Order: sequence, then C-alpha cells, then structure tokens
Amino acid sequence: MQLTKENIFELKKRSTEELALLVKGLNDVSSINYVLENLGHLPAGFNAGFLYILLNHSHPQVRLNAVKNIGKLNGNSDTKILYNLFQKETDTAVKREIVSSIGRQRIPQNKEMLFSFLEDTDPKIICQAIRGLMVFENDPEVEQYLRPLINHENEMVKSIIYKEYFSNNKSPKNNQPHRETYEYLKNVVVNADVLEALQLVPDDSVHLTFTSPPYYNARDYSIYPSYQAYLEFLENVFKETHRITKEGRFLIVNTSPIIIPRVSRSHSSKRYSIPFDLHPLLVKNGWEFIDDIVWLKPEASVKNRNGGFQQHRKPLGYKPNSVTEYLMVYRKSTEKLLDWNIHCYDDKTVNESKVSDGFETSNVWKIDPCFDKVHSAIFPVELCQRVIKYYSFKGDLIFDPFGGSGTVGRTAKSLNRLFFLTEKEPIYFEYMKSKQKVSLLEERMTKFLTISEFKESIK
Ligand SMILES: C[S@@+](CC[C@H](N)C(=O)[O-])C[C@H]1O[C@@H](n2cnc3c(N)ncnc32)[C@H](O)[C@@H]1O
Repeated sequence: MQLTKENIFELKKRSTEELALLVKGLNDVSSINYVLENLGHLPAGFNAGFLYILLNHSHPQVRLNAVKNIGKLNGNSDTKILYNLFQKETDTAVKREIVSSIGRQRIPQNKEMLFSFLEDTDPKIICQAIRGLMVFENDPEVEQYLRPLINHENEMVKSIIYKEYFSNNKSPKNNQPHRETYEYLKNVVVNADVLEALQLVPDDSVHLTFTSPPYYNARDYSIYPSYQAYLEFLENVFKETHRITKEGRFLIVNTSPIIIPRVSRSHSSKRYSIPFDLHPLLVKNGWEFIDDIVWLKPEASVKNRNGGFQQHRKPLGYKPNSVTEYLMVYRKSTEKLLDWNIHCYDDKTVNESKVSDGFETSNVWKIDPCFDKVHSAIFPVELCQRVIKYYSFKGDLIFDPFGGSGTVGRTAKSLNRLFFLTEKEPIYFEYMKSKQKVSLLEERMTKFLTISEFKESIK
C-alpha cells in the first residue's frame, strides 16, 4: 500500500489491526514516523497496542511520536508505562513529551506522577508538569505543591507560578481605556529636559516610545561628566518612560557602540558599547527584551576606519567599518498576552492599522542614513515609518524623549498617530518648529511649548 495521508486515514477508520500490521512491516524510520505523524485524532476505542511496542524502538523520534499519539487517548493511556519509560529515557525531547502526554490525560490518578516531575532538573519538564497540574483548578493538594515554586531558581517556572497564584492582575493606575490618552499630550513638543517634563506626565499614558538617545559625548549636543553618569541618566529616562507606558506596550531604543577619539598619539581611542551596557538597566527596570533589529547602512555612508590596516595589514590593528546600529525592542512587562493589547481596539482600528505587503521580514533593515544641515543625527523617515507601523495602532500616542529634529513626530502624524516629544536644546526645538507645515485644514495643530506653558496646559 502506498503511504499517503489519505490511506493512513482510511486504515485508521477501518481497522487498527491492519494499521498495526502495516507499521510492523515498515523497517525504515522515516516511514514509521510518517505514519505516526499523520495519525491525527484517535477515536474512542482505538487499539493502541502497537504504539506501546514502539516505545521500545531504538530511534528517539519514533519513541517521541509514539508517546505523542499515546497522549491523544483522552484519559485512557497507560501512564504507568509512560512513567517507567521516563525513568530510563535518555532523550530530553522524549522525556518532555512523556510529561506532556501524562498531563494531557487530565485524570487525578496521575497527580502523583506529575508531582514527581516537579523535582526534575530540566525547567521545561517542570513547566510541562505545572501545565498538567493546573487543570486541577482549586485543588488544595496541587496548590500545596505548586505555590512554593515561586522560589524556584528558574525564571520561567517562577513566572508561571507568579501569574497563577501571586499576581493580583493589577490594572493601570489611571482609569482610562487602553487606547485613549490625555488631550494635553496630543501632538505636543516640550522644550525641556526630558526628566523635568516627564514629572508632569501621568502613568500609563503612551502607547509606543521610539527614540535615539544622545551618543554619550560623541556629539556636541550633550556632555556628561562620565560614562557612568550617562548610563544613570538613561536609566532614569527609561524608568520614567516605563511608568508612563501603557500596559504591555513597546519601547524601541536606537543606539550603537561609539568611539571617542584618542587625545594624542600616545593614547588609544575608547569604544563604548552603549546598547549592551544599557540593556541590563532596562531589563532591571521592568522592560522585557523582545528583539534586536540591526539597522544596516551602506559602507560608503560611514566613516572609513580601515585605511591604516589597508596599508600595514598587521594583525590586532584590524578595524572594521561600523555599518550597523541597533534597534533594541522591549515590552513593558506584563502577564497579559499581545492579544489582550490588540483586543483593546475596535475592529475598524485594527483593520486600518494592518501592515500591508512588502513589510520587512528579517531583523536586518537596510536603510540609508539621513544627513541634515542643522542636526547631526536624525532618523531616516523610512526607519520611523517601519517602527511606527509595526508597533502601534492608528490613533496611538508615540513618545520620543529625545525629539531632535522631530522625525518621530512628523512621521507619526503622517501615519495617523499622535505624538508627544521633548527636546532640551532650543536650537533643535526651533528647528522642529520651522519644519512644521502649517495647514488651515489641519484638525490638530502641533503645540510647541515651554515647560511652564506645558504645566499650564495640564491644569
Ligand atoms: C540622537 S538625537 C535625536 C534625533 C532625532 N531622532 C531626530 O530624528 O531628529 C538626540 C537628541 O536628544 C536631545 N537631548 C539630549 N539630552 C536631552 C535631555 N536631557 N532632554 C531632552 N532632550 C535631550 C539632544 O539635544 C538631541 O537633539
């Protein structure tokens, strides 16, 4: 008989004995696996004898598929056999599948076995066992085993237990619906130090932050007494940003390692790995790491660093041209899934915000940098467009604490989002103002405010 999905399906319906004979007659692993992977739903009364025989097969993938199918027997599988196999099994994937299969039986007689798996050293096995035990809702014995795992050393185990037993499902401190925000933040630019301005911004009020912080002391617009002081400043900014971000929403920070040139020929230049040093400070303050996106620039657009090496070719003196920057993506830690965030919007908004074909599919974004006569480090519009389209809905409030020339604001507006920016330097604030296109038809004109005007606007 030819091995096709249709034939396997027919045989399963007609006679389990014939199916067992077919499998017995197969001597290559891939054909056995093909049958096992295409068995689908197993009807009541399915004679699973041949599956138990396959538990002794020498190939782990066959054992795994056999265990998976035994798990489909809806409370009728012989979990003792699975448990015994677990004791001698050496393949971790098969072991995990055994725990999952026992858990899927959902019968109280299996609780003891599942309790014993909680002692395992593999966190995935423990998590599978927890899943299996959680079906026994409000069972004091189960709770007695699971609650203490809040002190488990593994973060995944801890997080499941926290969500189940310890979280009080805190809702945002303000009572605004998730998609709403305050009028006085909509399309506003404040000329102030970001930390001063943020003192006036309430908790849970922005949907997305996209920003490129100052590059330590590499450019002239910001000077910090030390790298440590610079990192502490950024930590405070992103701590505050966390406070004003709505539950489960995103922060995308664009940085790159920088180089501070040497003071003389007898010194070396110093490189600072900003993205890597900032990362632990963000995670420590409640930002969950989601993705790293690499912004790739054409080599001709960056400073050439390999001139010397080109000449001497001596090892250790190799200096690659830096053609990348990072877009580090974080989410405000929450127990809620992304679906919860999406369901906060009506269907019309979700449909209108859908990202059209041609979106970037990889984490390497090839985009030309942008040069500007007034500001030395502005975002390319294309970069802003992608971030805003991929990480926000229409009508959302987008925040940029380091507004610069205002690229985030203008792009947000063009994509029917709202924005709130802060920028410390009057020269860039004025530049932003000068770039504003005045249109009488515009519903919501951008407001450029000093810190005291901003304070006034809140009253
Ligand atoms: C890398 S630039 C951002 C450029 C911006 N992404 C754009 O597209 O034009 C950083 C900006 O942060 C501003 N800045 C530095 N320290 C600040 C602070 N404490 N508060 C607010 N803005 C600050 C700088 O003046 C500079 O314009």
